[in-house]
Parts: sequence; C-alpha cells; structure tokens
Amino acid sequence: MRYDRKYLICGLTYAIAGMALGMAMAASHNHEQRVTHAHLLLVGFVTSMMYGIIHNLWLNEVTPRVAKVQFILHNLGATTMIIGLFLLFQQALPEQQLGPILGMASATVMAGMLLMLWMVIKTGKLDK
Ligand code: HEM
Ligand code: HEM
Repeated sequence: MRYDRKYLICGLTYAIAGMALGMAMAASHNHEQRVTHAHLLLVGFVTSMMYGIIHNLWLNEVTPRVAKVQFILHNLGATTMIIGLFLLFQQALPEQQLGPILGMASATVMAGMLLMLWMVIKTGKLDK
C-alpha cells in the first residue's frame, strides 16, 4: 500500500478515537483528558493527514526505505505520547514514571517531522 493511503487510514483512525474521547468528555462533563484529546486529534489525525497529503502531492514514493522509517517513527511516537498522556491525566501512573516516556515519545514525533522535511528536500533535488 502507498504511504499516502496508509497515512490517510491511520489519520482517520486517530480522528475516530479522538472524537470518541471528546464525546466521552462532553457527556461526562469531565474534561481532564482535554490535552490527550487535543494531541490525539492534532498529532494523530491532523499531522498524519498532512503527511498523507505531502506524500501524495510531492514525494511520489521516491525514498521508500526512509518513508517506512518515517511512518514507523510518527506512529510509534504518536501512540506512545497519546497512551502516556491518557495514563498521566487519568492519574494511573506517577508523573516521575511517565515523564521520561513522554519525553522519548516527543523526540520520536520530532524525529518523524525532521525525516519528513529531509524527504521533501531530497525529493526536490531528485526532481531536477
Ligand atoms: C466529535 C467531535 C468532538 C468533540 C465531541 C469534542 C469535544 C471536546 C471537549 C469536550 C473539549 C474540552 C473543552 C474544554 O475543556 O475547554 C475539547 C477540547 C479540544 N478539542 Fe475537541 N471535540 C471534537 C472534535 C475535535 C477535533 C476534530 C479537533 C481538532 C482537529 C479537536 C480539538 C480540540 C482541542 C485542540 C481542544 C483543546 C482546546 C483548549 O485547550 O482550549 N476537537 N473538545
Ligand atoms: C512533539 C510534539 C508535541 C509536544 C511535546 C507537545 C507538548 C505540549 C504540552 C506540554 C502542552 C501543554 C499541556 C498542558 O497544558 O498540560 C501542549 C498543549 C497543546 N498542544 Fe502540543 N505538543 C506537541 C505537538 C503538538 C502539535 C503537532 C499540535 C498541533 C498541530 C499541538 C497542539 C497543542 C494544543 C492545541 C495545546 C493546548 C491543549 C490544551 O490546553 O487543551 N501540539 N502541547
């Protein structure tokens, strides 16, 4: 499957999970998971959709190995961040324990973004 389509499916899945959490928050009048909801939708849904659009419009599968690593980094970082935030705001685990995990998840999401920038720059060079 092409990476634009993979990102489209992942992005829409994050959207459904994020909206379900938003609906649960609204129904229960308990907004403690607001930050989890925000990142599930913005790092999960919106950023994945952006990556899908970038793949479709500009990348044309020219760097498949890097694309695979980038896809894994983004999804690994995003899911770890979302689960970590959920556990944090649910007060299921102490912040001292979750802090380093959230830090690593953030660095992984950032690495995915840096790799996407690298692919965009590299593809521009290959086009010439
Ligand atoms: C079924 C759809 C949705 C429902 C029921 C829902 C529900 C909620 C609720 C109850 C809050 C907490 C508000 C507060 O405490 O001030 C919230 C906050 C938020 N939602 Fe949603 N939401 C939905 C869709 C979305 C979507 C699609 C996005 C973004 C793509 C989004 C982004 C945000 C953000 C960024 C916040 C935090 C806002 C802030 O901190 O001021 N939500 N949402
Ligand atoms: C490495 C990635 C990211 C990290 C480490 C990060 C970290 C944070 C932190 C620490 C907060 C404050 C949470 C609090 O008030 O307790 C926050 C809030 C927020 N971030 Fe992020 N963020 C990241 C990516 C993003 C992205 C990509 C977006 C949007 C596209 C985004 C949108 C927001 C929004 C809207 C809020 C306010 C949420 C609220 O207060 O309800 N973040 N983020």
